[in-house]
Amino acid sequence: MKFYTVESYEKLCQDASAIIAEQIKSKPNTVLGLATGSTPIGTYKKLAEMNKAGELDFSKVVTINLDEYAGIDASNDQSYRYFMNKNLFDNINIDKNNTFVPNGKAEDLNKECEAYDERIKAYGGIDLQLLGIGHDGHIGFNEPDSVFETKTHVVKLTDMTIKANARFFENEDEVPKSALTMGMFGIFNAKKILMIVNGKEKKEILEKAFFGPITPEVPASILQLHGDVTVIYTEDK
Ligand code: F6R
Repeated sequence: MKFYTVESYEKLCQDASAIIAEQIKSKPNTVLGLATGSTPIGTYKKLAEMNKAGELDFSKVVTINLDEYAGIDASNDQSYRYFMNKNLFDNINIDKNNTFVPNGKAEDLNKECEAYDERIKAYGGIDLQLLGIGHDGHIGFNEPDSVFETKTHVVKLTDMTIKANARFFENEDEVPKSALTMGMFGIFNAKKILMIVNGKEKKEILEKAFFGPITPEVPASILQLHGDVTVIYTEDK
């Protein structure tokens, strides 16, 4: 595991975007696993700038997002599909047909989850998975639990996650109570993992996840067993 600290959020975004750009340059049809949340926004901005400057081509890239709220339409500005379009896909030359986010409005959510895993397999797995980490150690929406859920599944969000995500909604009551998330199989089987984390308040969970016991109570801790993980951290917000 490569774990390092940088002096600013700006530097974190620079480093993360450089790693992603290198991956795409070495394999133009890279399968990129992507995350939402506030942490990756600056990285996505830098990737879009590189694309605009003609330095980075997304025309063959495939993206697979980690998660989506249940019961929310892609046109809803709180959906993760909307977030991805706004923060990345609308700003780069990617073919939107090659961008995948779980469908939170699918009639049968369990079927949607199964199909999502099949799709990841069909693309040969994820080459590089970008991750953030929640205050409780969640990755994607894999919340602390007594077992590691392997497959893409429907999950009930914890109060902590609902509270943390309320900042994006008018009020806490509007935060959906469940979501679809890629399980540990999809994430852990990614060939490379890149986790980006910022803010002093994430320091404690980061230490637990990477230097504490491996337990489903801290979902990210399983990444200690992965052979190619880079974690970039900055206190800067
Ligand atoms: C969202 C996701 C989440 C976030 C985590 C941290 O797709 O995967 O696990 O990475 O909640 O979110 P921020 O970056 O907002 O602190």
